[in-house]
Amino acid sequence: MSDRGRRSAGRGGAGRAAAARPFQYRGRELCCDGASLEALAEQHGTPLYVYSAEQVRYRFGLFQRAFAGRAHTVCYAVKANSSLAILRMLAELGAGFDIVSGGELERVRRASKRALGRVVFSGVGKQAWEIDAALKAGILLFNVESEAELGLLAARAEVLGARARFALRVNPDVFAETHPYISTGLREHKFGVEIGLARAIYRRAARSRWLDAAGVSVHIGSQIRAVGPFAAALERVAGLVGELREDGHRIRYVDAGGGLGIDYNDPPAKPAFDAARTVAEYAAALGEAAAGLGAVHLLVEPGRFIVAQAGGLLTRVLAVKKNGTKTFAIADAAMNDLIRPALYQAHHEILPVKQGRGASVPVDVVGPVCESGDFFARDRRMPRLKAGELVLVLDAGAYGMSQASNYNTRARAAEVLVDGVETRLIRRRETLKELLAAEIL
Ligand code: LLP
Repeated sequence: MSDRGRRSAGRGGAGRAAAARPFQYRGRELCCDGASLEALAEQHGTPLYVYSAEQVRYRFGLFQRAFAGRAHTVCYAVKANSSLAILRMLAELGAGFDIVSGGELERVRRASKRALGRVVFSGVGKQAWEIDAALKAGILLFNVESEAELGLLAARAEVLGARARFALRVNPDVFAETHPYISTGLREHKFGVEIGLARAIYRRAARSRWLDAAGVSVHIGSQIRAVGPFAAALERVAGLVGELREDGHRIRYVDAGGGLGIDYNDPPAKPAFDAARTVAEYAAALGEAAAGLGAVHLLVEPGRFIVAQAGGLLTRVLAVKKNGTKTFAIADAAMNDLIRPALYQAHHEILPVKQGRGASVPVDVVGPVCESGDFFARDRRMPRLKAGELVLVLDAGAYGMSQASNYNTRARAAEVLVDGVETRLIRRRETLKELLAAEIL
C-alpha cells in the first residue's frame, strides 16, 4: 500500500486522506495517528514528547527510495533525536548512523550491534577514548576534521592494530541560507578543513599504513531549505575526488552530510507529497553533482527531516495571566525541554488539543523557567487558552529532547512512541532522585 493510502486507512474524510503528518484533529480532538493525546497526557503526565513511528519510517523511506538507484547508505544523524527506541527502529530499516561522540556510539551499540558497521563518526573534537571505542566497534568511516585529528587517529589505529578508514571533512566555502548558529560550510567556521588544503593532507596521510583514505565528506549546515547549496558543495567535493584519485588514493565513499530543512510554518494538514518531492529534488541535485564521480558509495546524514515532524511536545497550561497589555499562557514545559525558540528564535506551531472555536487572540506561550527567553511563542494568535488545557508544540521531534537540560533543576520529560494503535513509553520521566544522583555533598 502506498504511504498515502496507508495513512488514510481507517480515517475517512477526503480532506484527511492526503495528510501524511501524524498530528491531526479527529472530531475536535488532536491525535497522534491512532492515539488520543488527552489519554496519553492522562496516563503519562506532561510535559510529554510524543512521536509517530509511522512518520519516522515514512520519512526514512523517502530517502531510501530517492537514492535507490545508486549505492548509498542513509546515516541518520543521531543528535537530532537519540532515543534508543527510534534508533532501533531505524536500524531495523537498514539505516546507518552519523555520530559525534562516544556517547552516541554507545547509543547505536545498544540499539543495534549490527548497525555499528554502518556508523560514520563526525565531530570537531574527537578524543582518544572515543576513537578507540569506534575502532573496536568497526565503524564504517571516520569523518576527520583536522590534520591533528588525523595524527591521533593514526596513532590510535596503530596501538589497536586496526586500520582506520577515514574521510577528510572539507569545508567547501559554500553559503547556505540558515540561522548563523547552524551554518557550517564557510571558511570562517570551525568545521572541517579548507578544501584547498585537502590534497596535501591526503598525500601526507598516505604515509601511514594505519590510515585508509576511503572517502571525502562535507556538511554545510542544518535547516537548509534550498537544494542548490548541497549540490554546489558536492560539486566541489567531486572535483577534489578526481584529484585524489589521480594521486592514487582509493576513494570509495562520498559523504554529503545532512542539513535538509523542513518548513516549521507548515500546517499539519499539509499533504505528504511535499516531503516526498523535497527529498526527490534533494536526491536529484546530489545525483547530478555526483555524476562525474564514477563508482562511489554515497552517504547522506539527514537528521531533522526524518524526525522533526514526527514529534510534538505535549504540555498543559498551568495558568493564564495578563501583564499590561500582554496575555501569557504559562505551560508546564519550558526552555529546558525545548530550547529551539530561545536559542534560534525558532518558530514552532502550537495547537490546542481540544480544537478551539472562539476568535483568535494574541498570546505568549511561555514556560516556568526564570528567563524572559523561556517562550514557545510570542504574540501568537490562538483561540483563548484556559488553565488546565493541553497544547501541543509541533515539529519538536528533532533537537527537542536531545537538547533538553535540567536547567532550574527540572527533571526531563517522558517520551512516548505511537505505532498505529499501540503506544509505548520509551523513556520514563526522570525523577528528582536520578537528577541529583551524581552530586556529592
Ligand atoms: N551531519 C553533521 C556532521 C551534522 O553536524 C549535523 C547537524 C547533521 C548531519 C544533521 O543535520 P540535520 O539533517 O538534522 O539538519 N540544534 C539545531 C541543529 C544543529 C545541527 C547540528 N548538526 C536546531 O535545533 O536547529
